[in-house]
Amino acid sequence: MKKRNIAVIAGGDSGEYDISIKSGSVVAEMLDKNRFNAYLIQIKGSDWFYAIDGQKFKIDKNDFSLTIDENQISFDCVFCAIHGTPGENGKLPAYFEMLKIPFTSSDSLVSAITFNKNFCNRIVSTFGVAVSSSIHLAKGQHFTTDQILDSLSLPVFVKPNAGGSSVGMSKVKNAGDLSQAIRRAFEEDDEVLIEEFIEGRELTCGALSNKGKMIVFPICEIKSKKEFFDYEAKYNPALADEIVPADIFGELEIHIKQTTAMIYNRFKCKGVVRADYIYSEKDETLYFIEINTVPGLTRESIVPKMAGEMGISLTELFGMMVEDAMER
Ligand SMILES: Nc1ncnc2c1ncn2[C@@H]1O[C@H](COP(=O)(O)OP(=O)(O)O)[C@@H](O)[C@H]1O
Ligand SMILES: [Mg+2]
Repeated sequence: MKKRNIAVIAGGDSGEYDISIKSGSVVAEMLDKNRFNAYLIQIKGSDWFYAIDGQKFKIDKNDFSLTIDENQISFDCVFCAIHGTPGENGKLPAYFEMLKIPFTSSDSLVSAITFNKNFCNRIVSTFGVAVSSSIHLAKGQHFTTDQILDSLSLPVFVKPNAGGSSVGMSKVKNAGDLSQAIRRAFEEDDEVLIEEFIEGRELTCGALSNKGKMIVFPICEIKSKKEFFDYEAKYNPALADEIVPADIFGELEIHIKQTTAMIYNRFKCKGVVRADYIYSEKDETLYFIEINTVPGLTRESIVPKMAGEMGISLTELFGMMVEDAMER
C-alpha cells in the first residue's frame, strides 16, 4: 500500500504550547515509518511551518499543502496534537472539515462544546452524570462575592471556562481570596467558572474508538502532592503520582469505564479522549470534572501509560488513530 502523508500538528496559542510540541514530536517519531511519512507541522498564530535541517517551509493555507524543493506534498490525514486553542477547541477541526482532510480528533462542534467547561458540564449532567454545583460569570457581568457564596459553599475552584493544564485556576478556601482568584481566571478567558470543591479520589479514564469498537483504557488515579492537580503537579513527576492501573475494582471500575464510554458515544467523540472525575466516597458518587479531546501524548503523559498497561504500544495507538480518521 502507498505510504500515507500525515501532518502532525503541534504548538498552538495557549499555555500548553510546549507540551503540545512534545506530544507532537513523540507522535511524529513513533508513527510507523513503513506505513506513514510523518511531518511535524508547528502552528503558532499565523505562522504554520515544517522545519528540517534548520530550514523552515511554510504551509499553504489555501489547501494545507507543503512545498519542499518544488515538490508539493498534500496530506492524507492530520494528527492533531494541539492541546487548547486552536486544536482542541474546534477551530482547526472546522478548517480541516472545510478542506475535507481527515483528522484524528473530535469534529469541530464536539471539540468546541467539550472545551467549554460550562456547556460541557450542562450537557453531561443531562446524561445522568453528577457534576459539581457551579456559577458561570462573563466578563463585565455584575456580581458580588456574597452572591456567589450564598449559592456555593467553600472551598471553591475558580477556573477560566475554556482553559487547560490548570493555568489561571485557583482553589479558594477563604471568602476574602475569591475576588483575586476571579480576577486571575479572567486574565486567561472572558468567562469564568466557579465550582464547589468535591472531596474525593481523582480518577481519569481514557477511551478510543477503533473500527467501530470501543477500547476503554485502565483507570488512572492521580495523587497530587500539591493542593490540587495544578500546572506544576501536572508536569513535575515528583509532585504527583499517576497510578495505572488505579486501585479500583468491581462495580466502581465498571461504572467509571461505562460512564466514560457513554460520554464518548453520546458526544460522538473521535480519536483518543480522557475524562477526569472525582469519586466522592462520602456520597458514593462519581463527579465528572472535564473531558480532554486532545490529551497529552508525551512519553510521561497519562494516556500513553494507560495504553502501555494494556499492552498497546505508541506505534499501535497512533496507527489506530490515523486508520480510524481515514476510514470515517
Ligand atoms: N470541582 C472540583 N473539585 C475538586 N477538584 C477539582 C475540581 N475542579 C478541578 N479540580 C482539580 O483541578 C484540576 C484541574 O481542573 P480541570 O477542570 O481538569 O482543568 P484543566 O482543563 O486545566 O485540566 C483537576 O485535575 C483537579 O485536581
Ligand atoms: Mg483536567
